[in-house]
Amino acid sequence: MRLPVALLAGAALTATHLAAALDWSGLQPLGDAQSVTRHERGVTLACADGSALTVTFLTPAIVRTRAQFAGQPAAPDHSWAVARTDWPAVTWQLAETADAVTLRSDVLEVRIQRSPLLVSFIDPATGRVINADARPAARDPQSGRIGVAKKLGLDEHFYGLGEKAARLDKRRGRFTMWTSDTPGYVEGTDPIYQSVPFYLGLEHGVAYGIFHDNAHRSTFEFGHLTQESVDYSVEGGELNAYFFAGPALKDVVSRFTELTGRMPLPPLWALGHQQSRYSYYPDTMVEQIVAQYRARDLPLDVIHLDIHYMAGYRVFTWDRARFPDPTGLTRRLAEQGVRVVTIVDPGVKHQPPAVGAHDAAIDRDLAPQDQSYYVYNEGLAADYFLRQRDGSHYIGEVWPGKSVFVDYTKEAARRWWGDLQHASLTARGVAGIWTDMNEPADFLDPTGRRHEHIVFDDLGRQSAYAGHRNLFALHMARATFEGLARHRPAERPFVITRAGYAGIQRYAVKWTGDNNATFASVALNIPMFASLGLSGQPFVGADVPGFIGRGSGELLARAYQVAAFAPFFRNHTAIDQYDKEPWRFGAHYEAIVRKYIQLRYRLLPYLYTTIEEAHRTGVPLWRPLILNFQADENTANLDDQFMIGDALLVAPVLREGERGREVYLPTGALWHDFWTGAPHRGGDMLRIDAPLDHLPIFVRAGSIVPSTVAMNHTGEKPWDPLRFDVWPDAGGEARGELYEDDGRTTAHRDGAFRRTQLSFTANRLTFAPEGAFAPPAREFEVAFRGVTAREVRLDGDVLPAAQWRQTADGVLLVRFADPGRACTVELR
Ligand code: GLC
Repeated sequence: MRLPVALLAGAALTATHLAAALDWSGLQPLGDAQSVTRHERGVTLACADGSALTVTFLTPAIVRTRAQFAGQPAAPDHSWAVARTDWPAVTWQLAETADAVTLRSDVLEVRIQRSPLLVSFIDPATGRVINADARPAARDPQSGRIGVAKKLGLDEHFYGLGEKAARLDKRRGRFTMWTSDTPGYVEGTDPIYQSVPFYLGLEHGVAYGIFHDNAHRSTFEFGHLTQESVDYSVEGGELNAYFFAGPALKDVVSRFTELTGRMPLPPLWALGHQQSRYSYYPDTMVEQIVAQYRARDLPLDVIHLDIHYMAGYRVFTWDRARFPDPTGLTRRLAEQGVRVVTIVDPGVKHQPPAVGAHDAAIDRDLAPQDQSYYVYNEGLAADYFLRQRDGSHYIGEVWPGKSVFVDYTKEAARRWWGDLQHASLTARGVAGIWTDMNEPADFLDPTGRRHEHIVFDDLGRQSAYAGHRNLFALHMARATFEGLARHRPAERPFVITRAGYAGIQRYAVKWTGDNNATFASVALNIPMFASLGLSGQPFVGADVPGFIGRGSGELLARAYQVAAFAPFFRNHTAIDQYDKEPWRFGAHYEAIVRKYIQLRYRLLPYLYTTIEEAHRTGVPLWRPLILNFQADENTANLDDQFMIGDALLVAPVLREGERGREVYLPTGALWHDFWTGAPHRGGDMLRIDAPLDHLPIFVRAGSIVPSTVAMNHTGEKPWDPLRFDVWPDAGGEARGELYEDDGRTTAHRDGAFRRTQLSFTANRLTFAPEGAFAPPAREFEVAFRGVTAREVRLDGDVLPAAQWRQTADGVLLVRFADPGRACTVELR
């Protein structure tokens, strides 16, 4: 079945404002290729105009293209985004004809036409062109602007681009990369916080990816005003692009993250429910909120301290009137299973010391700072603050008023930052760091356009702001992450970020900033999280139910139904807004919110398993349907539903007042209603009733989904019983996995994990665990759907009748103690 056209089109149109297509005037194309020099991994073409183009295989499926335009000053080959530079040898062949130079690996052919100079990527198996230049790449020798045009396929879809307030398919859209502080953004606001110049293309079932590793301000147009081409233009720097072959979208994400790095495994508590407000103070208020959570039987793992915990918004200080004993506070909360995450902003208050004033010798972060502020003094003495071309400091304005900013491209400055963070925060029991305002925001110039005179040290190269603004958050997150890893080497770091560039996933979890408390904003979560995931960032989330605006009980209920599946799961609200904790809109809504927070905790074994997969492979857990069903065209721009891993499809109600919705179930699979078990055929559009307390969820037949009991916080008790819901497909088979480790330390890197493969076939369910981690003693509970039995055996022995039963709703429930090794349950 194909969806009605109206549902599929309309897409990215709204995400854009009309603007001119790429302006080619003044751009000089690469000249014709004249000679070819072969290297170990590729070739350099010398062009007639003095330009050079180097094409190299990093792997058989990843090709880098780097141009040196005529007259362009040579730049060192360095990237802050790329995590990997050592690659195993690649087998490839070179063929030269009068017209073209062709490089070929097992999976990819790169054909470079000599005149005019055009590069195409071809599938060597079919000879089909996957992606091709529409005209030669070009550069303006005066301004340094570079332009690239690719042919646009008639049925081509586009995904990725990191954080964009836009629909899933970016076709017809125009998007700019320039990190921007954009409170209250709506669909179509562009740019917003992050800049990730990476996109995926998909046509005729074949996907590819392109990453322009250039942090200057750039623009992507996917057939925005023309049907001719996909245009990329960048205001400076190099043409430095990576091409990733598919054919699966999953392959492309995996390859992009092979280059730019993958998300480290987060601590389990980071998947727990979190509460925030701008701001909770004093400390007694923080404890009251946590007490409410416990009294109301609402799960909570983390509470956030926003900017008012600091003394006058000075980073790495405490306001002693509001927080007299930070260590005592974090300890008391820890006893209740609640961790504290503190916000850290990049702006350091510009505060030359009063005459004769000195910093305290010990506990500097707890001392009054009004006469002398130790962070400012130290950073100044060590020359860590950003300067302008004339040597003066860059002074912007953020929360503390006039502020200076650290040049995190200096290694010593990053170390210093990490040490301050430890002494003032983590040594006092703070568990994780929330980095914010890292575009960097400046109230004096929100656009960053007047900052061109700022210079970054950039490994001694003194690089201009224009090529570094987009990298600022990556540097700051790195300093933060490395500080945590250095000071608590056994613990997994937890860092949150607002801005970012490609590679940010190596250091930080992404939250989507100052969203609105509206249904439109909740609906926008779905394509935003999906696009971030496709851009290498699986750990994403948004303020629930929305940062700006009053919200309502209904919005809170529906927002929680979406957020319960978001890896980062935090309730937050702005300073001048109504309270939005789960109980603020009355008992009716609170009960619904409780149901979904508890569902989240019950599904933790499944969520943790899928997040470990994201860590290991780069493939995100929050998935657009197209990622799992690439052959089903109906899913190409379906973004009011999403999947978690391979098994769960979620179709939330996204409009106020609605009590039902249409749901599309992809073809090629059989589906079951998660709540009732009712079967549904794939390829169908269903009408589902969804009263306010109901979230439509479907399970793909053929899945085995691990879960456990709800609890107050992730560390409250072990996963006991550990439940496995077996949903056989039409052939009576099902498959699943469970990943476990200690949830906290880095011991998993040395093999201290347990990965259990589960497979159900011919009425036999096999558990095949591997790895050195030994979970505590516990019970397994297996729920088989759609099967009956007269006898159940565990490893050949008949199970006593007390250990299994057939329930009224057609589920066969089997219980036994985890034998801690491979085992088989047989139904007869
Ligand atoms: C920014 C953040 C927001 C925070 C506020 C105060 O607006 O995006 O989450 O509450 O600053 O720190």
